[in-house]
Order: sequence, then C-alpha cells, then structure tokens
Amino acid sequence: MKVTMVGTGYVGLVSGVCFADFGHEVVCVDKDPAKIDTLNAGGVPIYEPGLEDLIAKNVKAGRLSFTTDLKTAMQGTDAVFIAVGTPSRRGDGYADLSYVYAAAEEIAGLIPTGDNSFTVVVNKSTVPVGTGDEVERIMAEHVSRAAFEVVSNPEFLREGAAIDDFKRPDRVVVGTKDSRAEAVMRELYRPLYLNETPIVFTERRTSELIKYAANAFLATKITFINEMADLCEAVGANVQEVARGIGLDKRIGNKFLHAGPGYGGSCFPKDTLALARTAEEANVSLSIVSSVIDANEARKRRMANKIVAALGGDVHGLRICILGLAFKPNTDDMRDAPSLTIIPRLVDKGAEIVAYDPEAMEEAKKHLPDIAYTDCPYAAIDGADAVVIVTEWDEFRAFDMRRVKELLNAPNVIDLRNIYRGKQMRALGFSYTNIGYPAVPANESA
Ligand SMILES: NC(=O)c1ccc[n+]([C@@H]2O[C@H](COP(=O)([O-])OP(=O)(O)OC[C@H]3O[C@@H](n4cnc5c(N)ncnc54)[C@H](O)[C@@H]3O)[C@@H](O)[C@H]2O)c1
Repeated sequence: MKVTMVGTGYVGLVSGVCFADFGHEVVCVDKDPAKIDTLNAGGVPIYEPGLEDLIAKNVKAGRLSFTTDLKTAMQGTDAVFIAVGTPSRRGDGYADLSYVYAAAEEIAGLIPTGDNSFTVVVNKSTVPVGTGDEVERIMAEHVSRAAFEVVSNPEFLREGAAIDDFKRPDRVVVGTKDSRAEAVMRELYRPLYLNETPIVFTERRTSELIKYAANAFLATKITFINEMADLCEAVGANVQEVARGIGLDKRIGNKFLHAGPGYGGSCFPKDTLALARTAEEANVSLSIVSSVIDANEARKRRMANKIVAALGGDVHGLRICILGLAFKPNTDDMRDAPSLTIIPRLVDKGAEIVAYDPEAMEEAKKHLPDIAYTDCPYAAIDGADAVVIVTEWDEFRAFDMRRVKELLNAPNVIDLRNIYRGKQMRALGFSYTNIGYPAVPANESA
C-alpha cells in the first residue's frame, strides 16, 4: 500500500516509519522544512529509542521518504493520514483543530477524482467527537463523495516505547462503516494479524471518543493513586504497597499506579481538558474527569511546597539540583512536564536551580532559560543543598550514593518518583523524602 503521512511529529514519524517497516511505501510530509531537512540528512528531530535505526533501515530499503511537498507525496496514495497537533486552545481547553482542518483543506485539493479512484483519509490526530464529520464536509467541497472516505484511527502509542507500542499494540481502533475503507485499513494493519492484535472496527464518532475515554481513564488512575499517596503520608501507610495490593486484583491491574508529582506530557493534560469541554457542550456532567484535571494541576503546584517543607520551610539562597526535566523517561518531550510547574515556584521562593536531564535539556532551555544546566548528574549534585528527582530516568536509579553524599553540601534527597528506599537512604545518612510514605516509618529504627 502507498501511505502519505501528513505531520511528521511524534505520532506521524513513528507511525510512518513503522508502516514502512511493515512493508508499505510511506512518504512523510511536514510543513516544517527544518524537520524534513534533518530527516533527509539522516537525523531525527525527536528522541525516541530505536527510531533512528528504523528510519535508516527503511530509507535504505526505499520504502520511506520525507518531503514538504504534499502534492508529490500524494501521487498514487491509498491512504492519507492526518497526524498533526491538536493542542489545547489557549484559555478554554478546547482542542485546537485549526491544524487538522488546514491539513484537510490541503489534502482535499489533491485527492484524485478519476472514475475508480478512491482515497482513504485517516485521522490519526486525537480529535473531539464530530471532527471526522467536519473533515468529510471539507473534503466534499472539493471532491465527489465517491472518491474518498474519512476514517478515524486514533493512536495509543506512548513516547519512550513508541515503536513497540505501534508494532505490538493492545488493540487498533478504526472508525468507519465503509467497506472499501475497512478493506484498506485491514491491509495496512495486516502484519499485526500475526500477533493476533484485536482490531476494533466501530463508527467514526465512537472511535474518536474511545481515544479520549482511554486517556481520561488512565489519567484518573494516576490521580487516584496520587491522592492515595497523600492519604498514606497523613495516616502512616505505604503507597507502593497499597498499589501492589490493589494492582494484583486483575480487575484493577498494576499499570498506572505509580504515585508521583502528577501527570504531564503531550496528551493527558490536553485530552482530559478537551473531553471535559466536549461534555460541557453536550450538557453532560463528567465530574470525575473535571476533578482529575483540578487535582492534577493542584498536585503539580503542591510539589514545590513539599520540596520547600522538606528543606525546612525556606529555600531562599539554597542550591537545588533537579534531576529529570522531561515529563517522563525516554523522551525529550517537555509538554506540560511537572518540572515546568515545580522549578519556577522554587525560583520564586529564592532557590538557585541547577538541572540535569539525559535528553530534554535543549527542549527545557526554551521554557526555562534562566536556570543552570550541567551535562552530568554528578556535576549538578556537586555543592547542592538538595537533590530532587523529578523524572525517573534509569540512570538515576543506581547512583553511587556515597559519592552523592560527599558531593552534596547538605544530604537532602527528595524523590518524587519513589526510586529509592527510605530505610536505606536514611541508613546512609540522608534526609530522604518521597511520595506516599510517612516521614519516618514507625517501625524503622534507623
Ligand atoms: N505524542 C504522543 O505521544 C501522542 C500519542 C497519541 C496520540 N497523539 C496525538 O497525535 C497528534 C499529533 O501529536 P504529536 O505529538 O505527533 O504532535 P507534534 O506537534 O509532535 O507534530 C505535529 C507535526 O505536524 C506538522 N504539521 C502541522 N500542520 C501540518 C500540515 N498542514 N502539513 C504538514 N505538516 C503539518 C507540524 O509541523 C509538526 O511537525 C495529536 O493529536 C496528539 O494528541 C500524540
């Protein structure tokens, strides 16, 4: 099959590369010439494990190419994917669909209209219910209805594990009732039949809603365990054992039960907001989703207070080392990262920040230009009054803690991801604060 991917960001690039690796012929299009130049020069504009090698392999095999020219890219194409951004519209939380509609307009003008020509326009961007109807309306202004079908195919990949998620998904969701479009979609995803991946065929509106419902549910799970963590701290219980104790129940499951500083990233914050706005418009109360949004925002803000409290209530003049800036490990994505809420608050309270992240520092500098950065975690720790672990990169899990203690000006560790054990840290002489534990467990003598 011949595939055109419009938008070569996280989702477009990973999807395009993986479709090429399935054996399809893929052209990835982006309107950002710098991005396309980087890709054509063998570079990768984002950090995603395994992506660089997979791009090189498929470019070499002649199945994958990059261009800014949509017209050339669409020649002979069976399916055009829209994989452009749908950020929150400033101020009101609605999904900004201007990129989707602009892409639809551009595509509409290029859809072949010959007797038997048929192109599937696949919306992979996360879009509110009814967006497919509008894309269809835009197309129909330019092309006869018989020449195209608009399908919803939301993407569920996770940054940091994107290739594996695309190639071994729990399910693929396809929203269409058109048999010709269904046949094209089945052919595109045929390699997944080997793994017996369930493909959920449904109506377009239902498919659009499935994506938001999935993200809102996962955000709720995270927020639930975060609130349990607060309760654990107040009543002297252990949140990781609570998570294990409930997660072993198959009806609950153990995923997304890690207490932390609040969810961030390119999807959960904007998608929960957009879902809440959709419900508002439909006069339906989604009180759980609204509470999750409020609780998560408040939590990110409270994390700065937690750090200040752990350091005696005043951080003025203290040098605080922040480890991890990206919203999660294995990505350089800084969108809505908790670090973006925590760091400015510490700066406002007079702290001096020195930060380290294995991949996200270039991105972080765009948002936090006035803090110090180092290219080695031990350099960031050197002379600091506290270490705060904000993102759980693997390289932070096995620090030489004796060296850390020697380098620190004061032995304070605030671990917002629970990657260390309180008892061991206290035995090493650290003042250690984490999430969802009593300050010093009653049964711990150390
Ligand atoms: N990032 C994720 O982990 C993830 C996961 C699942 C779903 N999604 C959804 O996928 C969509 C894309 O997200 P993303 O993170 O890949 O976005 P992104 O911002 O990384 O990439 C979007 C790309 O589209 C390009 N673009 C915009 N308009 C264009 C046009 N008319 N023609 C060609 N290129 C155009 C931009 O230049 C940019 O490179 C969003 O709706 C998002 O919610 C994202």
